[in-house]
Amino acid sequence: MTVPENQTVIPTYTKNQLALRNGQDRDEIWVAYQGQIYDVSRSRLWRRGNHYEHWAGQDLTAELDKDAPHTANVFDNFAVVGQLL
Ligand code: HEM
Repeated sequence: MTVPENQTVIPTYTKNQLALRNGQDRDEIWVAYQGQIYDVSRSRLWRRGNHYEHWAGQDLTAELDKDAPHTANVFDNFAVVGQLL
């Protein structure tokens, strides 16, 4: 595939690939929200993949919308590393 110089291809991952980034099996800690996967590995609030009883390595869209005391703006400081298939 040819990619124009000014474009970046965002990799895609399956649910199973995301599940490996749960903070237990590998060092990477990833969380999906509305189809985007964020790398929260450097967050002190997501150590070992756990955040107030919520686990990384999965799509947490519904959980954030239902349970979180904050909005999705918390992702502003984190890079999108991929898109969830
Ligand atoms: C019971 C549910 C939850 C509680 C009590 C909670 C609490 C908090 C608190 C206190 C903070 C730091 C202050 C703030 O930014 O408001 C925070 C940050 C954050 N939360 Fe949650 N949260 C919950 C659910 C979730 C869910 C389901 C997600 C993922 C979709 C999420 C993702 C984040 C992220 C990415 C941050 C930023 C972490 C950082 O800046 O290091 N939270 N949360």
